[in-house]
Amino acid sequence: MALLIIGSQRSGEFATAAREFGRGFDIRIWPNAGDIAEIRYALAWEPPPGVLATLPNLAMIVSVGAGVDHLLGDPRLPNVPVVRYVDPDLTGRMVEYVASQVLHHQRRMSEIAVQQQRKIWKYLPEPAAHEVRVGVMGLGVMGAASLAALRAFGYQLAGWSRSPHSLPGVECFAGPGQLDAFLARTDILVCLLPLTPETRGILNRDLIRKLSRSGRNPRLPGPVLINGGRGGQQVEADIIAALDAGELYAASLDVFETEPLPASSPLWSHPRVVITPHIAAESTSRAITKYLFRQIARHQRGEPLENVVDRSKGY
Ligand code: NDP
Ligand code: OXD
Repeated sequence: MALLIIGSQRSGEFATAAREFGRGFDIRIWPNAGDIAEIRYALAWEPPPGVLATLPNLAMIVSVGAGVDHLLGDPRLPNVPVVRYVDPDLTGRMVEYVASQVLHHQRRMSEIAVQQQRKIWKYLPEPAAHEVRVGVMGLGVMGAASLAALRAFGYQLAGWSRSPHSLPGVECFAGPGQLDAFLARTDILVCLLPLTPETRGILNRDLIRKLSRSGRNPRLPGPVLINGGRGGQQVEADIIAALDAGELYAASLDVFETEPLPASSPLWSHPRVVITPHIAAESTSRAITKYLFRQIARHQRGEPLENVVDRSKGY
């Protein structure tokens, strides 16, 4: 029985871990697929479209990441269960990213960094955490865990999701009908949505203009956008225009319309934009491979798989 590892730049690392956790399995790395009739399982990240459809006995696809847009975008994706990666190792890293970026902007650290470069010793008024309203788009694994961590700092918290949720200490909004109310009470917006047709381009100028600038929190110079979801959700030209127009104070972007972010992008050099190279949550190859073989074991025992993607919803 064979496992195919396909697409990821880390395929070699996954293969090393798979030889440890998947004894008895024939481990193959695309394009060296061997006899494709022997392949039962695939571990995939951005596989070339159409390739998985050529595997006649494929029984399950496990995504290297929590997001599955890289798989569902394949019009010929075979009709087998797609399992997305959910693990405390990944979630913990996203929580760290979100907390670090919320704190960074609440404490006006981008401006402080510029002052340091210029050797300027100057007090900047900063809001306290309890004066700042953070809103998280997406109340799934990542969103709920990030909100739980932010709660410890005392931020005023809200979340927005597709279906209604109830989370301790979080004002919950749901659906397109409650989006504007959610934005209107938000100073720092964090996006942890999956990329679907509904969320593509959602982080645009129109949305940015709906964020709070009510003066309730006069010491944060303007709203902040943090995107740890997917680049396809943001309209980068709109974000730059909103920064230039003062409609947005600052941003932290981990994901981009085009990755790697082209050197020509003005985002690179904006003093109040934090750019990270899609590393908000990058799990270890060992943790991902362990999870993969847990799903394979469940499949072989005929038990329900964990975190199966609902293709009708797209996540
Ligand atoms: P989940 O599937 O657990 O949660 C998704 C959340 O988004 C749910 O609360 C869902 O609502 C909500 N949602 C989906 N569509 C809509 C919509 N149209 N309107 C409002 N809410 C919507 O995903 P995770 O939390 O595990 O991961 C979220 C995303 O984070 C991933 O898809 C991936 O793109 C990104 N990610 C990025 C990483 C990085 O390194 N940058 C690392 C890991 C993940 P409901 O609860 O009602 O279904
Ligand atoms: C993911 C990612 O989806 O790393 O897990 O982007």
